[in-house]
Amino acid sequence: MEQQTITLVQESWAKVLPISATAGTLFYTNLFEADPSLKALFKGDMAQQAAKLMQMISAAVGKLNDLGSLVPVLQQLGQRHAGYGVVAAHYDTVGASLLKTLEQGLGPAFTPETQQAWASVYGLIASVMNPETTA
Ligand code: HEM
Repeated sequence: MEQQTITLVQESWAKVLPISATAGTLFYTNLFEADPSLKALFKGDMAQQAAKLMQMISAAVGKLNDLGSLVPVLQQLGQRHAGYGVVAAHYDTVGASLLKTLEQGLGPAFTPETQQAWASVYGLIASVMNPETTA
């Protein structure tokens, strides 16, 4: 992964962090709008779920320069997701919802380069979590 990609993702994520709770809620609104059937997979409190998602993305974004320690964490996360009933196609829906959320949250700061960088980082995360993904 190119350093420029990592920098774009880390700098844009730093702008999302102050609005983390809002962004997390917005993400699930976008996700369930894209595929209402996914609601059934989530059993717990959605505000807490949003916080866990944001924390995990933060951890992943922070470790993009240290893939050796990130990859095993993502592999285990992916195995747990298989147990939640998550299949490869869901990763596309989640990726699209994440990019939409970033666009809404960042506005003009979500430049085409930043969008491209996120698409490639999300594609990497998804493919490590679930090698069947096409993202
Ligand atoms: C970047 C990719 C993703 C990240 C970082 C992520 C992060 C997380 C985290 C941190 C948890 C808390 C439980 C745990 O650690 O095992 C979780 C649970 C969950 N995630 Fe994800 N996730 C991702 C992709 C997805 C996708 C593609 C789906 C499909 C809809 C999904 C659905 C779920 C479900 C159903 C749960 C369990 C909810 C429950 O037990 O009520 N996640 N996710």
